[in-house]
Amino acid sequence: MSNSDLAEDAEKPTALVVGGSGALGSAICERLADDGYRLFITYRSSRTAVESLREKLGETAEVHLGQMDLCDEASIQRCMAEANGTFSRLSTLIYASGVNIDQPFIFDTQAEQWDQVIKVESLGFIHLVSAALPALRASGRASIVSIGTFATHLYMSGDALSAVPKAAVEMMTRAVAKEEGRYGIRANCVAPGIINAGLGSKMQTEIHDPAVWETQRKRVPLRRFGEASEIAEAVAFLASDRASYITGQTLIVDGGLHV
Ligand SMILES: NC(=O)c1ccc[n+]([C@@H]2O[C@H](COP(=O)([O-])OP(=O)(O)OC[C@H]3O[C@@H](n4cnc5c(N)ncnc54)[C@H](OP(=O)(O)O)[C@@H]3O)[C@@H](O)[C@H]2O)c1
Repeated sequence: MSNSDLAEDAEKPTALVVGGSGALGSAICERLADDGYRLFITYRSSRTAVESLREKLGETAEVHLGQMDLCDEASIQRCMAEANGTFSRLSTLIYASGVNIDQPFIFDTQAEQWDQVIKVESLGFIHLVSAALPALRASGRASIVSIGTFATHLYMSGDALSAVPKAAVEMMTRAVAKEEGRYGIRANCVAPGIINAGLGSKMQTEIHDPAVWETQRKRVPLRRFGEASEIAEAVAFLASDRASYITGQTLIVDGGLHV
């Protein structure tokens, strides 16, 4: 690689995408690749998924892979160190991880189920942000985008395992926006509605019968569920300089369901 190639690469934005092996995470990676990002993508168990993604993006983007378990602080620290060693400047942190959950009512929810979602999603995001802030501050101009859920804005019975830990994610995002803005860090949340991908698809096939989903679809003003690419578009916008004066916000991308 020539010196001019190296200089050109150093100018490109960089992103650490946590949960890039998931449906929304991989759509986000594809969208960021289109915007010219250099990517460090993490997975927990789905190594094959991120290898396929790297192969797919190989033509358009520089892609690095790292294993991270949000329940394991050492693995968060190790992955952050790898990402920092890969990029001279980390400009973007995307959080797109989440637990595969059922939809029990609170009365029927077991202690272990609460422990898991709080540990992975709430505490995981908090530890991740703490680990990333020194690098994001050092970059002088950086952005965090977390994935939350519309369920913190329109609660539907049976959705507490999703909504409760994501409320912490959303609040942490706003807190970071307020405290870290002075260091050039913006932080925003994208709250998806019901999406035809990943956990949204799984729920549509495994939880409730089709008539229930049809009723839900009719409640959406746009009369359809969303696509992963529509979440990725919102994330890419908030991550970029196109949103340079937007921070501490939650962008609800749900076809108007919560209205
Ligand atoms: N899809 C929807 O309709 C929808 C709607 C609203 C909100 N959301 C939220 O958006 C987020 C992503 O959803 P998705 O549909 O993309 O889900 P998904 O396809 O099941 O992906 C989940 C991601 O989370 C990662 N993950 C799970 N446990 C982890 C852990 N302990 N440490 C690190 N990573 C972990 C998975 O990694 P591995 O696969 O490598 O283990 C995977 O990358 C979730 O928080 C979900 O609740 C989704």
